[in-house]
Amino acid sequence: MNENMNADTFAWEALEARCRACQSCPLGANKTNTVFGTGNRQASLMFVGEAPGEQEDRTGIPFVGKAGQLLDKFLFAVDIPREEVYIANILKCRPPNNRDPEPSEEDACIGYLREQFRLIRPRVLVCLGRISAMRLIKPDFRITREHGHWFYKGGIWMTAVYHPAALLRDPIKKEDMLRDMMAVREKLRELE
Ligand code: URA
Repeated sequence: MNENMNADTFAWEALEARCRACQSCPLGANKTNTVFGTGNRQASLMFVGEAPGEQEDRTGIPFVGKAGQLLDKFLFAVDIPREEVYIANILKCRPPNNRDPEPSEEDACIGYLREQFRLIRPRVLVCLGRISAMRLIKPDFRITREHGHWFYKGGIWMTAVYHPAALLRDPIKKEDMLRDMMAVREKLRELE
């Protein structure tokens, strides 16, 4: 157990250091901070968003801007403490003006997320928004039709919910979000 913990600690440190030094795509040159990921490295539940925004780039922490604060409210509503989950993004560096990630940027960055999965081994993965769902669940994922559906892939239960930024633009979607987040909590309870 201790040996594993030490090996994992070492692997996390090496991974984070590589990620912080990464220049595999042009975004690395313009970032303020790398937004590697935060939370419980033994989490059963992992959330994956799209890419850091302005506040995340400034602080180095995922989902701390307006969208993140809304995510926090949903976590609170379904009784999932933020510190118990792990939160990361497909991209670790901010795209200019918050544009969508380019496929080449996702390709350059996805290895860091894969390694994070491998180390955390979550039982449930929640994609925050379409970009993450298209990359992690299936390329033709349709968020309006398929949010809240469950997929079992590689030993992990996966689902996607609306990106919190989409809820800020269209608050009517908050009802679906609450339902989907309650289903996430139920799935975790089922698997306990
Ligand atoms: N949007 C994302 O997809 N990720 C963040 O970390 C913040 C906003």
